Amino acid sequence: MWWEQAVIYQVYVRSFQDSNGDGVGDLPGVTQRLEYIAELAAQAVWLSPIYPSPNADFGYDVSDFRSVDATFGTLEDLDALVERAHALGLKVLLDFVPCHTSTEHPWFREHPDYYVWADAPANNWRAAFGGSSWGRDEQTGRYFLHSFFPEQADLNWRNPEVREQMTGAMRFWVDRGVDGFRLDALDRLMKDPELRDDPPATRRPDLPGDPTDLELDHVHSRNAPDLGDALQAIRAAVGDVLLIGEVYLPIEEAAPYLQTLDVVFNFEELFAVADASKLRHAIEAGLRAGGQGWVLSNHDFSRLVTRAGPDNARAVALLLLSLPGPVFLFEGDELGFADVPMDGPEQDRNHRDPFRAPMVWDANAEHGGFSTARPWLTPARAPAPGAAQQSDDPTSVLTLTRRAMALRSRLAAHETRLLPSEPGTILLQRGDHIVAVNLSDTTRDAPPVGELVLEARPGDGADLRVIPAHGGWVARTA
Ligand code: GLC
Repeated sequence: MWWEQAVIYQVYVRSFQDSNGDGVGDLPGVTQRLEYIAELAAQAVWLSPIYPSPNADFGYDVSDFRSVDATFGTLEDLDALVERAHALGLKVLLDFVPCHTSTEHPWFREHPDYYVWADAPANNWRAAFGGSSWGRDEQTGRYFLHSFFPEQADLNWRNPEVREQMTGAMRFWVDRGVDGFRLDALDRLMKDPELRDDPPATRRPDLPGDPTDLELDHVHSRNAPDLGDALQAIRAAVGDVLLIGEVYLPIEEAAPYLQTLDVVFNFEELFAVADASKLRHAIEAGLRAGGQGWVLSNHDFSRLVTRAGPDNARAVALLLLSLPGPVFLFEGDELGFADVPMDGPEQDRNHRDPFRAPMVWDANAEHGGFSTARPWLTPARAPAPGAAQQSDDPTSVLTLTRRAMALRSRLAAHETRLLPSEPGTILLQRGDHIVAVNLSDTTRDAPPVGELVLEARPGDGADLRVIPAHGGWVARTA
């Protein structure tokens, strides 16, 4: 399959490239920049949601699943993007949001039976962004279920009409030429039909979340046993396009999803990058589970540089880009973007603006070459040197990323093993290559290896008998 060793580049459309001077990125802007993505040697682009949206959650509150938001352009602009991407050898993946719609979607009034209603909050379920999952509809005085913001009403996937509408919408995009989907918030797709209370949490949560949500053990509000039925309906409608699930669970628990989907994100890895032993554990779990993808960053959580720490970010990036299976690179990861405060009012109520800064194409151009107007999000300082500045610099993060991505094709066919290693370090064997990283403050011994292939930082491979503190390299086996 084309995606098995792919690097999938996530474009957060609003922040990638503005082509019409309104300060917001758009589809013609993405098309202009596809060559850059192809030159990185990515195999696919995943576009954050492009559908019409009132933007309570910046595109994840969809008001029409078969159209393009006017801010981003038109259906024809998407067709042009897909055509250009395919000409460059890139696949195009859309972000599809099956769990909920905007409360401004016409269905919310015209088809209330598409949603989950009660006369009063029916249980103790909590929304992912905090507070009760039950929102009061001012017009009727009744309550509807929402797993995220109150503007995002949960769909009832046990209603056959909902399935038909949603899978029909996915088919609509497949017929237009898209090569797959990233499916949003899937663990919230199917809930207990009896709406029973979630019991109090009795153990530490596996993944971070809103404190009020984490007070409960999500046995009823998520992952209902018939989730496979809904996923199979999706699969039947779209055929064999790539289906990636955002399933917010430890990788060991994602098996029911992987019966139908091709890939789920490895979130344990995303949260483990600051700690070598946790990271090693997450990699082990991922390799065992199979069917999962490694995530450098995405639009929901702190950037890799911020999570791993600036000292270790290059070594961690080198390691993640050397792993087998699909890797997800968020726009700006290849430039070493860190979280950055914004100069202006907060846009996302869940405080995710610092990860969504517009691309810096050229540090010397107005607004980094992203737009001729003040960007919708204006970083208080540049999150990293621009792509133009990094492109010809052999020491830049962009150069490291390009080299690590180029190396993947040489690693692809080989078997992968984690080797025993000293504290703070991770040693990975991929066929006749060894990847070594050291996230600690102390130089550590390395096993005997052959010649140097790639360094995380210039000089890291000067003496291959050791792995320097906060450094790493790839070498041939001895
Ligand atoms: C997913 C998206 C996130 C969004 C949420 C609700 O987690 O990645 O950005 O807010 O779902 O749709």
